[in-house]
Amino acid sequence: MPKATVEAPSNIAFIKYWGAKDLDEAIPAGPSLSMTLQRCASRTTAVFHEGEDGPDEVLVAHNTDDLAPAGDAFRRPIVRHLRRLCKWAGRHGRFQIATRNSFPSSAGLASSASGFAALTLAVLRAFGVAPDRATQSVLARQSGSGSAARSVMGGYVAWPEGDRHAARQVAPHDHWDLRDVIALVETAPKKVASRDGHRRANTSPFFEKRLSLLPERMQQAAAAIETREFEALGEVIETDGVELHLITMSSVPPIFYWMPATLAVLEAVRELRAEGVPAYSTMDAGANVHVICEPHHEEQVARRLSRVDGVLEVIRDRVGPGPRTDVEPLL
Ligand code: DP6
Repeated sequence: MPKATVEAPSNIAFIKYWGAKDLDEAIPAGPSLSMTLQRCASRTTAVFHEGEDGPDEVLVAHNTDDLAPAGDAFRRPIVRHLRRLCKWAGRHGRFQIATRNSFPSSAGLASSASGFAALTLAVLRAFGVAPDRATQSVLARQSGSGSAARSVMGGYVAWPEGDRHAARQVAPHDHWDLRDVIALVETAPKKVASRDGHRRANTSPFFEKRLSLLPERMQQAAAAIETREFEALGEVIETDGVELHLITMSSVPPIFYWMPATLAVLEAVRELRAEGVPAYSTMDAGANVHVICEPHHEEQVARRLSRVDGVLEVIRDRVGPGPRTDVEPLL
């Protein structure tokens, strides 16, 4: 029975994907750029029962080692993606899927990016096919999770590129060791799903303005990565992170992802900078804050964030090389 296991990391966007031209295929309205992480990852095993009819089986381990059948809301988009991948490959059969996150799945971190990247890559391996990275990226984004398009590769990743809207690596992970110190201030699932946020984005009067600013911002970020200029990159990261929330708060109806502790962490990061510690913050569609810094400041940043009122946990991650296959299967 063809079986494959892949561990794919999550990623943190320095320039955010928010708003889509086609939401089902995850064709973004604007460009984005991210850093692929290392520790925060999803591991997925896919067993392909070729030629067999019957329902796909989806098992998930939520914050435990024990696998259990997934609930309907979790299972449905996975099964849809399995059918899409079968169609793409011209194969017929049913799957057994098992998946587990290395980080608490309720932590409001981007588990769909790592989850759909791992699922896509595990299924391709179970099929015995090895399409190029761009094709892997396209297949991952067709899950509907656009950020998954960036998680199929390591290092620093821009998306979309070309007619197929694939992601492209702008620099490998060993080009520049950056750290992501994550201040968890909320562990409940986000109040408004990214999908609804994307749908609402263009109701903000500032959305078109944001799109017009993004090409230059992408260039600034790519140049700062190439030359390893941390402050220059940090300024772009922080500007864009706040701007995503400006769009959400001015959408109709508005979405407020921040919590009081989010603002307290942002303040702590500004204080760190005033004390001479270069660190810059960014938030995805949630209240948690990712603080980006260089390795020699990580300890100090982590210590400060853990003292902020309302911070439940500090997770330390770093730029990573991308998906791995040398991992223990879950089935
Ligand atoms: C704010 O549509 O990829 O993280 O499927 O929930 O991960 P999920 O969302 P997706 O949108 C990502 C939105 C973002 C910014 C980003 O990662 O670029």
